[in-house]
Amino acid sequence: MSKLLIFMTCLLIFVVLLTTFSTSSSAIPVTFNVADLGARPDGTTDSTQVFVNAWARACGSTVAATIYVPLGRFLLRNVVFNGKDCKNNNIVVRIDGTLVAPSDYNVIRNVNHWIFFEHVDGVSVLGGVFDGQGAGLWTCKRAGHNGCPNGATTLGFSKSKNITINGVTSVNSQLYHIDIDNCKKVEIQRVRVTASGDSPNTDGIHVQSDGVTILNSIIATGDDCVSIGPGTTNLWIQNVICGPGHGISVGSLGKKLQEAGVENVTVKSVTFRGTENGVRIKSWGRPSNGFSRNIVFQHVLMIDVQNPIIIDQNYCPDSKNCPHQASGVQISDVTYKDIHGTSASEVAVKFACSSKHPCFEITVEDVNLTYKNQQAQSSCSNAFGSVSGSINPAISCL
Ligand SMILES: *[C@@H]1O[C@H](CO)[C@@H](O)[C@H](O)[C@H]1NC(C)=O
Ligand SMILES: *[C@@H]1O[C@H](CO)[C@@H](O)[C@H](O)[C@H]1NC(C)=O
Ligand SMILES: *[C@@H]1O[C@H](CO)[C@@H](O)[C@H](O)[C@H]1NC(C)=O
Repeated sequence: MSKLLIFMTCLLIFVVLLTTFSTSSSAIPVTFNVADLGARPDGTTDSTQVFVNAWARACGSTVAATIYVPLGRFLLRNVVFNGKDCKNNNIVVRIDGTLVAPSDYNVIRNVNHWIFFEHVDGVSVLGGVFDGQGAGLWTCKRAGHNGCPNGATTLGFSKSKNITINGVTSVNSQLYHIDIDNCKKVEIQRVRVTASGDSPNTDGIHVQSDGVTILNSIIATGDDCVSIGPGTTNLWIQNVICGPGHGISVGSLGKKLQEAGVENVTVKSVTFRGTENGVRIKSWGRPSNGFSRNIVFQHVLMIDVQNPIIIDQNYCPDSKNCPHQASGVQISDVTYKDIHGTSASEVAVKFACSSKHPCFEITVEDVNLTYKNQQAQSSCSNAFGSVSGSINPAISCL
């Protein structure tokens, strides 16, 4: 009798221990080190399949998972991390090393993205260098060869939410460096983008999403520092240094007849050094139902910028499909406040708005931009609004 009692007691203790152990262990995050799974840090062995396997395991895990990339160079072809059937909404990709794209651009060619996350929820990419090896493709494009592929954006997120990108370095992308499309709640911080000032279409960060913040980043590239596409809402950009490149651009908007608008964008404490534009809003000169409203540019330093403040609604590259048409994009409620520094051209402030949909509620306050130590100029057409504070150049055309 007592033996049975002891046995039962032991069994009970065993079961209790087992339960305790298994519940506590199930809360411990798991880590998948790609080197342990077979990736080689030699820069030449294709590690794509290993990363795909690591993603499948992280995604299938019911506890928080980390995919860890140690020091070294890991060669990856284009890869999609799909979150559609993920059990996990807490996946960290922590990178100490470098991801390297194939140096031959014909390997990826026209696939849109090199490293692509789609339908993911709760993914963080922390650290690491993404080397797009774009120079070969730029040479092809600059030479005007017809056979050059588009190339691939280095790091893309699409149809995803709760994304963090922190401490990532992107060098020499073939096309855009980072693309955030159709996402919700994305935090981008301490990003460093580097590509040559004459590299074609290498936008730093392209946003076409809701609730994106871009903080504390340095972007030197051949196209827009940040480009803000149709449908972007609630975007916050702060403490960003741009240059070389084409500046921060809302647009191009209005390429399509039916198009989502851009609303509630704040650009604050930003420096432009030697860029083609500073703060720009740009739309095609053709019909569209698009709009851009509630846009704030504040605390901006311009150093030798071609077009520091510009609205251009007559965009019509190669004069194809749009000459002599007015833009349908309605621009309103745009604030320029505390913007100073130097312009590299005589016209430092230019508002070229649509004749069919003039800009309204343009607010300019405390702007001081000089050209070669002299008075700069301003010009406007179809623009309405108000000017206050100390203003140089005088903007009498609003
Ligand atoms: C993820 O995003 C959704 C909506 O965008 C939100 O309701 C949810 O709380 C977020 N989860 C986390 C962990 O932030
Ligand atoms: C505008 O966007 C910011 C985030 O960038 C957000 O905090 C704020 O609530 C938004 N304002 C409105 C009126 O939606
Ligand atoms: C504008 O800046 C220049 C150079 O920094 C300065 O000399 C000038 O007084 C400023 N003008 C105004 C109106 O603040």
